[in-house]
Amino acid sequence: MKIHISNTTEFLTEEYLLFYRIHQTLDGQIKSIEKTNPRTSVAAARVKKIIEAKNHNLLLIKNIVDALEPNAEIKHLASLLKPQSRLRGQNNTAAYLKDFRYMMRDWCQLPEGESQVLRIIKELKTYTVQFSPDNDKILFLGAGMGRIAFEHNDIFNKVFALDKSYSMVHHFHRLLEDDFVFYEINEFNVLKPEYVSRRLTASINNASAAALEKKDRFEYFIGDATELPFEDHSLSCITSVYFSDVIALQLYLEELKRTLKMGGLFIHFGPLDYFFRDRAEMLTGDEIKEEFIQHGFEVMHEDEIALPHMNSSINLTSKVYTNWFFIAKKVREVKKGIDEAAIYVINQPLFIQTSHLINDESNKIIEIKNKDGVTFEGAENVVLLLEFLDGQSTFSEVFAKIKETLNPSNQELELIQNIFSQLLEKGFIKIK
Ligand SMILES: C[S@@+](CC[C@H](N)C(=O)[O-])C[C@H]1O[C@@H](n2cnc3c(N)ncnc32)[C@H](O)[C@@H]1O
Repeated sequence: MKIHISNTTEFLTEEYLLFYRIHQTLDGQIKSIEKTNPRTSVAAARVKKIIEAKNHNLLLIKNIVDALEPNAEIKHLASLLKPQSRLRGQNNTAAYLKDFRYMMRDWCQLPEGESQVLRIIKELKTYTVQFSPDNDKILFLGAGMGRIAFEHNDIFNKVFALDKSYSMVHHFHRLLEDDFVFYEINEFNVLKPEYVSRRLTASINNASAAALEKKDRFEYFIGDATELPFEDHSLSCITSVYFSDVIALQLYLEELKRTLKMGGLFIHFGPLDYFFRDRAEMLTGDEIKEEFIQHGFEVMHEDEIALPHMNSSINLTSKVYTNWFFIAKKVREVKKGIDEAAIYVINQPLFIQTSHLINDESNKIIEIKNKDGVTFEGAENVVLLLEFLDGQSTFSEVFAKIKETLNPSNQELELIQNIFSQLLEKGFIKIK
């Protein structure tokens, strides 16, 4: 199993601690269930069935703990155990020991799983084929149990999948070796006592014949969407299925831009249900679209597709997501900061606010403010610069005009460039 993460030792130690704790919690749960006192023989059989199923899954988790243990570094482990330390929050893998749920949907041939997963695959393949610049390399971010990615083997020369969860990638590789037996557990919300657990067998052979035939094209590794181990301009498509709301787009947008070739696609499929805390980064669909346009992409396709999510035919809980399907094509190279070839305009409305103490006009403060109250201080010269944005000239033309008109020194030129970068960062100007 390949790992492409910058600090592998720290990562494996953190994963070890995570799965150790998950194991402890499940073990504790089983012990507590064992203490229950069923009033009827049916209840006793039901509780016994739950305990047996949990014990089986506990062993599967123990396998992960055992695989990780030799890689854990005592020094880092000790630092993680200090009360104030937290596991790296931004990556959000801890929220997901949903391996068995994904395994059930992807690899067990249950009608409820197949209907969901096959529809997603069909939608993706239809448009990927239509818009992809070629059939060279596709990458799936946060690929979970991997079925959706795996089914692209027949289209692309190389299908890469990455996930930051050790267990997801571990379980997929286990599946490549042999069938995998586990239990779906529904402690409540079922109609029949026998539904509290269901023994399931996952098999890689449940993939389509076309995908299995080209399985050598598939590579699934442990990796992080925020540090992609790919060369610049090397990927034809990057796909995010139920992933764009797991970590903030801002954390991996630059990596998408860097690794996609010109004409390459970013494909999103899923809700915007956000599993992190920073509200400012819980972008709406419109904001995501705008972000991609600003960064050199063109929107190719948009749709809303309602689908049940992770349903089980024996559990009464059912969730339906209206999935946003969004495809954008990279049409321009936009470097971080100002893009010389782009036309910038003022992001209206902007207000100028001048204030000074009564009787002391010499200490004037001039600020620019946008409608959200974000301010830019020392704005006298900024207003002058903004007047050069005529909505027609590219930034390099604007810059040439500024040079010609104001005749600034080299130091002032650098300052002007910095001001424009800051205006862009604060959202005071945008690409037309
Ligand atoms: C909601 S699941 C989606 C799984 C899969 N795409 C599917 O739909 O079947 C999100 C996945 O993202 C993974 N993940 C979380 N943070 C990540 C990161 N920084 N880089 C890569 N994967 C990450 C989680 O481990 C989890 O498997």
